[in-house]
Amino acid sequence: MTDPDRGSGGRAPGPAPGDRSAGGGGRGSDGPPGPNQPLVRIRGLHKSYFLGGKRIDVLKGVDLDIAEGDLVSLTGASGVGKSTFLHVVGTLDLPTAGEVRIAGEDVFSRGEAELADFRNRAIGFVFQSHFLLPEFTALQNAAMPALIQRQSPEQAEAAAREMLDAVGLGARIDHKPGELSGGEQQRVALARALVLRPRLLLADEPTGNLDPATGEGIHRILFEMNEKLGITAIVVTHNDALAARMPRRLRLREGIVT
Ligand SMILES: Nc1ncnc2c1ncn2[C@@H]1O[C@H](COP(=O)(O)OP(=O)(O)OP(=O)(O)O)[C@@H](O)[C@H]1O
Ligand SMILES: [Mg+2]
Repeated sequence: MTDPDRGSGGRAPGPAPGDRSAGGGGRGSDGPPGPNQPLVRIRGLHKSYFLGGKRIDVLKGVDLDIAEGDLVSLTGASGVGKSTFLHVVGTLDLPTAGEVRIAGEDVFSRGEAELADFRNRAIGFVFQSHFLLPEFTALQNAAMPALIQRQSPEQAEAAAREMLDAVGLGARIDHKPGELSGGEQQRVALARALVLRPRLLLADEPTGNLDPATGEGIHRILFEMNEKLGITAIVVTHNDALAARMPRRLRLREGIVT
């Protein structure tokens, strides 16, 4: 399942307006993780679902460090819990037990509004389906996280334009999602995920719905963003060729990431 809106026990709230003034697309006030500190530190992470009186243990004690600038693939059989893992690490869902630190911060110790603000600024998401808003243009869709951060429309659109240029969509900014190809829609989703220059990009089978050539274009952009912007990314993929090209490869099996 890749739908971020699916119901599950204890989902954290969606993005909400933050209380900070416009950050100008900077890296926010969370500071660098420090020389020896990983950007993401996961300890004893458990996630179980409770459904119809039954408990399904999906994550069974994941311990993992991700360094700033890492580009990581995550593979594993269907149903093993890859999306669950991304959702919990991305604070879209709460763990059953365990700790996630991002840039040194124990994310689940934050209050709901603060967590939503942190998520909007620090984490970019790309899903298999793009979840673009159909009535808005590519520019407006890509600008959305910046508007949620209360940047001025001019500033938000400038940042969105820059990111749409970076993903090769400078000539399509006035198109609505229905007026874009599948690969173009996914590139808008990527521009939206990156418009605030998040420290962490979480991508859940971002090319799962695309033909190989179009998917390859998205992969190239991911590599470029990692190289040029230093964005740390975890990419869930069923594409072994892509996974093989990632500097770091992780596998989820029987509730454990190795
Ligand atoms: N909201 C939920 N309630 C109960 N069980 C769930 C829920 N969401 C997922 N599951 C179960 O948790 C397990 C992991 O699901 P998840 O979507 O994380 O797998 P996945 O590795 O992403 O699979 P795929 O490769 O098919 O996308 C599955 O067995 C699924 O049925
Ligand atoms: Mg999945």
